[in-house]
Amino acid sequence: MITIIGAGKVGGAAVLFTALRKVTDEILLLDVVQGLPQGEAMDINHMLSEKGIDVNVRGSNDYSEMKGSDIVVVVAGSGRKPGMTRMDLLKVNASIVKGVVENIKKYANDSMIIPVTNPLDPMTYLTYKVSGFQKNRVFGMGNMLDLSRFVQFIHETTGYSRHSIRAMVIGEHGENMLPLPRFSTVSGISLLHLLPKQKLDEITQGTRQIAAKVIELKGATVHAPGNAISTIIEAVLLDTKQVIPVATYLDGEYGHSGVSIGVPAVIGKNGVEKIIELDLDLNEKEWFKKGVDSVKNAIANLEL
Ligand code: LAC
Repeated sequence: MITIIGAGKVGGAAVLFTALRKVTDEILLLDVVQGLPQGEAMDINHMLSEKGIDVNVRGSNDYSEMKGSDIVVVVAGSGRKPGMTRMDLLKVNASIVKGVVENIKKYANDSMIIPVTNPLDPMTYLTYKVSGFQKNRVFGMGNMLDLSRFVQFIHETTGYSRHSIRAMVIGEHGENMLPLPRFSTVSGISLLHLLPKQKLDEITQGTRQIAAKVIELKGATVHAPGNAISTIIEAVLLDTKQVIPVATYLDGEYGHSGVSIGVPAVIGKNGVEKIIELDLDLNEKEWFKKGVDSVKNAIANLEL
């Protein structure tokens, strides 16, 4: 069973995209708001009924119902408003996520946890520490979403099919995120071979800024995060061994420890099964370290 905590727009989208992948027969949507998860579940079940998909979606306000969950996705908390950074949500969301994780520990102690709440990397670290789960069982969805945006920029700039594009984004899911043209290809052809440096710099910066633009225009990002969450859920449940950038605890990898931040990882039935260390150049290492420093500064402000 999959539990998604937070029945807002992203939580609802995560339920919908996960149900459509037919990788589980039961999804529980939890929220503190009376009626919201129940109504969202009914609406999605009606859609699934028309499509003949036998995935049962339940809505509840009772944390105890997450007993037996294989995966718990944490989307609970506030989303940023136009003009805010993800880090601006640190204080308000830390207390919400802490309370949620304490309930996961109580009712779903054998599950894997996928934090999504922003600021993603500090919230992933908080989840790892408060849950006391082994580090492979706590992995935040952030760079997978950034990667989807980087692919869109590559598609728009080259005109090539999205299907041929393999891109990589690591580091902080925030102002210091690190799209990696050197580790991105179109059908195996390096992006450096296909686009001039000026264009690569443009789409790298564009990837960092595009979420704020979506929020300015429509108030929130919804479908892309919902889908990215479902991709990670599928990789775990089908044990696909996909290499997906996720926020996870570093214990010396990339030369850093005591921080949770986005790195390429092999995702399978045991969650983060291996962290892949890329041979970053000096500029890439600097960006990655900026992200680490930003996350560590946020962590220092958490009363854990
Ligand atoms: C975004 C939020 C989920 O990047 O951080 O859309």
